[in-house]
Amino acid sequence: MHGRIPEDKIQEIRDRNDIVEVVSSYLPLKAAGPNNFGLCPFHSEKSPSFNVNAARQTFHCFGCGVSGNVFSFLMRMEGLSFVEAVRRLGERVGVQLERENLSPEEKQRRRQQILYYRINEAACDFFHANLMRSEEARAAREYLKKRGYGHEIAREFRLGYALDRWDGLTRALAEKGFDPKDIQTLGLTRPGQQGRGDYDLFRGRLIFPILDLHGQVQAFGGRVLGDELPKYLNSPESPIYHKARILYGLYQGREEMRRSGEAIVVEGYFDQLALHRAGFPQAVATCGTALTEEHARLLKRYAKKALLLFDQDEAGRRATFKAMDVLQAAGLPAAVIALDEGDDPDSFLAGKGAESFRSRLQAARPVLEVFIDDALARHGGSVEGQAKAVEEIAAKLRALTDDIERSLYIRMVAQKVGLDESLLQTKVSGRRPAAPSPRQETRPKRTTASPPSAPAAGLRAQMMLLYLLVREPRAQERVKEEGVENLFLDANIKELAEKILTLPSQETASAESLLSLAVDGVQQDIVQGVLREDAAAFAEEAEAIFVDCRQAVAKERLRRRKQELHQLIQRAESSGDLLEMARLQAELMQVNRQLK
Ligand code: UTP
Ligand code: MN
Repeated sequence: MHGRIPEDKIQEIRDRNDIVEVVSSYLPLKAAGPNNFGLCPFHSEKSPSFNVNAARQTFHCFGCGVSGNVFSFLMRMEGLSFVEAVRRLGERVGVQLERENLSPEEKQRRRQQILYYRINEAACDFFHANLMRSEEARAAREYLKKRGYGHEIAREFRLGYALDRWDGLTRALAEKGFDPKDIQTLGLTRPGQQGRGDYDLFRGRLIFPILDLHGQVQAFGGRVLGDELPKYLNSPESPIYHKARILYGLYQGREEMRRSGEAIVVEGYFDQLALHRAGFPQAVATCGTALTEEHARLLKRYAKKALLLFDQDEAGRRATFKAMDVLQAAGLPAAVIALDEGDDPDSFLAGKGAESFRSRLQAARPVLEVFIDDALARHGGSVEGQAKAVEEIAAKLRALTDDIERSLYIRMVAQKVGLDESLLQTKVSGRRPAAPSPRQETRPKRTTASPPSAPAAGLRAQMMLLYLLVREPRAQERVKEEGVENLFLDANIKELAEKILTLPSQETASAESLLSLAVDGVQQDIVQGVLREDAAAFAEEAEAIFVDCRQAVAKERLRRRKQELHQLIQRAESSGDLLEMARLQAELMQVNRQLK
């Protein structure tokens, strides 16, 4: 897609869209020289730490660390892809992105899509008008009222009612001149048998339009008003509807999602509505499907964390752990909100109210922790049961990409089952004392999910060390002994560490004195990150983490040396310096050994 927009066009569009103007259309900014401060739209805050720099044409939040240019601002703000952001900003300044290089088929496909959306829009209007006004929709209005939903939410979500007739919608759309074939493709009507006309899919149902991120109607869900079956009917997949890629309520909820950093994921349309109404608009529902990778990626655009809130029954429990795997692979942290057995969000809110819900929300536990408890309980207390549970748990821990997180979980599990930590460690890392079995090759996760060379891991380790440096007087001594040089690779972190060591000890822990050490935005981000670390979580682990971190840093150094050596060997080879080559190769072998 990206390749379609020529680089000079992108350049032109960037040049002509002043980032200060673009951001100002979303939030008020206050100028101070080239800097313009405002309240960050990407996290919730009370004092402005969101800065737009006119000279550099960039934005940066000192609070949550996001930064970028005018394109990335719009991508985040509106949840757009890069191409969409370029197109939107192009329109803003009248730069046309020519489409002549679209193939005729592609042009035709797009025209057809626009038509589909127009049909769905007309259907949505029809259903909605029925619900609000039609004599035949009295029962539907009463049903909604009985469940506690008024006009306002009906309007905001464009809820509707499908008349209890065979051809209510069929006729309404025919009057507007739409092609019956197109209407069938969308699943709104079905072809009649034996010369009879088409008939409606949704009849006598309350209608939930499923909106995409632009507010366009992609599909519908419909609920019966009584106990008939099936309880819900959903539009089939169509050229414009893919249930694996859309979340009900995201259109209405994404602002709050971004502000709060949380996405509450529920199973039902009514659960989503109930949460929205109770003051938790950051809720979305999957549309009659399990959470997919695409859902996870979508959520990640708006939220830093997913809160899973599925029905409190066996099916919901299974869905929760399936979602755990999906979210983990997508790198979106997840926690579980627990309600009481048999409740769903809708019934919980109706019975116990928003305040009780809020405390459940605050008590959400990391999904992996819930999984661990569940596995241990599920397999029972026998030795065999516990062994099975540990096996299951180890498989999940193996998939974690964060070394520190993994070792903390290993400690937790070891304590819970009274197992030796190093034994569990061995199990998790999949190392075998005996000859490696061929099964090791079929274990895909470890190699793809966490190549041990991820530089981010090294960076995180350095952050942790910096953290210890601030909080642990003993760590200061150790760092001094071993030398900043040997512990920090990142130039910015190293510089900060050196400065921290020169601070008088009573000043080390104060946020202001630490922040004053930062010479630029990058360093400020680092300090903020350190200040954000939760002291309680690490206080007891200080020593272990210190060792872990130091090893990670040392490893990172070896990796760099290895890369260097590869280059040096090539150079030596091309200049024919055999002696040097031999020396370098010997070192490379040693480095490889150490890395192992
Ligand atoms: P539930 O049966 O939990 O319904 O299905 P609900 O959302 O709690 O609805 P109420 O409160 O009884 O009115 C959860 C979701 O599963 C899908 C729908 O998306 C529904 O919202 N579903 C359920 C179907 O697609 N078809 C069905 O027959 C039932
Ligand atoms: Mn329900």
